Amino acid sequence: MSRHQLTESGQLKHFLTIEGLKRDLLTDIMDRAEQFSSISGRQVKKVPLLRGKTIMNLFFENSTRTRTTFELAAKRLSADVMNLNINTSATSKGESLLDTLHNLQAMHTDMFVVRHNQSGAAEFIAQHVAPHVSVINAGDGCHAHPTQAMLDMFTIRRHKGHFPDLRVAIVGDILHSRVARSQIQALSTLGVGEIRVIGPKTLLPADSQTLGVHVYHNMAAGLKDVDVIITLRLQFERMQGALIPSAQEYFANYGLTEDKLKFAKPDAIVMHPGPINRGVEIASAVADGPQSVILEQVTHGIAVRMAVMSMTLGSHSEQQEVNA
Ligand code: CP
Repeated sequence: MSRHQLTESGQLKHFLTIEGLKRDLLTDIMDRAEQFSSISGRQVKKVPLLRGKTIMNLFFENSTRTRTTFELAAKRLSADVMNLNINTSATSKGESLLDTLHNLQAMHTDMFVVRHNQSGAAEFIAQHVAPHVSVINAGDGCHAHPTQAMLDMFTIRRHKGHFPDLRVAIVGDILHSRVARSQIQALSTLGVGEIRVIGPKTLLPADSQTLGVHVYHNMAAGLKDVDVIITLRLQFERMQGALIPSAQEYFANYGLTEDKLKFAKPDAIVMHPGPINRGVEIASAVADGPQSVILEQVTHGIAVRMAVMSMTLGSHSEQQEVNA
């Protein structure tokens, strides 16, 4: 749990991890995202909530969905947003992370959105910024990806409503997945009836049982009667050595195909945080099929990130402007 992300009165100052956050706060994020979702359907998709604020996207690791939806979210809130290109920045000349940070802060930055391949990087930055600056974790190593988890919860709530009635299965490379870790924390906090993880032993954390999840190594048993299936990419970039015999064998055992999908409830939804690897963890017929909500997840990322940004930077009185 981060000691740094809440103010003394329990408001979000930074958004670093789901761990330790209360159900009411997660629900507030989703409720606020609902309001912002309607703004995205308007002809003029902007509100003045963060006018005059400066937001820096610091992505030390590649991203398509997270970086662009954070940028769109900031622009729809009327903030000024900068994307630092790490490859062409002075970081490549040996400047330390903290020196880069302090220089960017000297430009009157109000928020840093940080993705880094080191677990704990966002928390470290949050400990070193000025008191008026907020930090949002856009994914750190294998540790956490809290806004992804919240857009996933938002998507589940939109389709399925009441969390305690649900059975949710997360399939694949849980061991290296910051997304799965944050999802499990969010699903637990929201009181989901049953959380299952499915995968080969080599891709499940040794402490899976202590996460409060049910562990399966077989898709037929693990997917039986679930309401939500979340598939995950094999994160080869974080694996040390070969943990599966081959991608083909993995697909045969754990790839989500139309046949395996039939084990779940007929109205089960299929989710994936992206990027998807077709024919490895998911078949194209399922990824593009009627039960897939994968692209909806991406759309919801904008509203959920608007919610988190406005909650960390804005005050309660500003909320009235949402409907302006
Ligand atoms: N889901 C996700 O984090 O995707 P990106 O790596 O494209 O941001």
